[in-house]
Amino acid sequence: MSFIEARDVWKYYGDYPALRGVNLEISEGEFRCIVGPSGSGKTTLLSLIGGLDRVSRGGYLRVGPYELHRLSNAELDRYRNEFVGFVFQLYYLIPRMTVLENVELPLIARGGVDPSQRRRMALEALEMVGLRDKARRRPNELSGGEQQRVAIARAIVTRPRLLLADEPRATWTVRRPWLSWRYSGD
Ligand SMILES: Nc1ncnc2c1ncn2[C@@H]1O[C@H](COP(=O)(O)OP(=O)(O)O)[C@@H](O)[C@H]1O
Ligand SMILES: [Mg+2]
Repeated sequence: MSFIEARDVWKYYGDYPALRGVNLEISEGEFRCIVGPSGSGKTTLLSLIGGLDRVSRGGYLRVGPYELHRLSNAELDRYRNEFVGFVFQLYYLIPRMTVLENVELPLIARGGVDPSQRRRMALEALEMVGLRDKARRRPNELSGGEQQRVAIARAIVTRPRLLLADEPRATWTVRRPWLSWRYSGD
């Protein structure tokens, strides 16, 4: 069975159909790129798969065991928090927090992880992207590429089953170590 399955997925913004019947199948462990011109709906599709937004009508969208089109908003929040890591195109790092604190955020949102464990996990995620030595810096003290790597660390700190990245460019140097890290986890 495929890990991600989309059948006839539509997304309207007002009366503008940004997605018009998307079909997609992706297997577990697969690494896929979605390519298309600006405005073709790539970000929209990632938002639906990541549970940040909802399909507009009908259709079928499943990720792992989750049939996203059926979930309530609360269930969708839980899915996103427990299952998905998302690297946004604009990173959305919090400027007043340190790099380490930014990476700890998803663990705080999830709850149930004590502060020392949280710190250890965040440092490990930063290690994965080669930024452990910059944990005490603020985002504006980093280069653009380093900020993107912080966003990746924040997306992988929960060891999500699904990692989504919008316009990832050069970041995929972390792909291989991340995959082995993910599967060696507790
Ligand atoms: N929140 C929104 N409200 C209205 N239209 C939107 C919104 N987000 C995206 N769109 C429109 O939907 C289309 C697809 O956008 P998007 O998914 O961001 O494309 P891509 O990521 O491929 O550049 C574009 O025409 C865009 O203008
Ligand atoms: Mg986009």
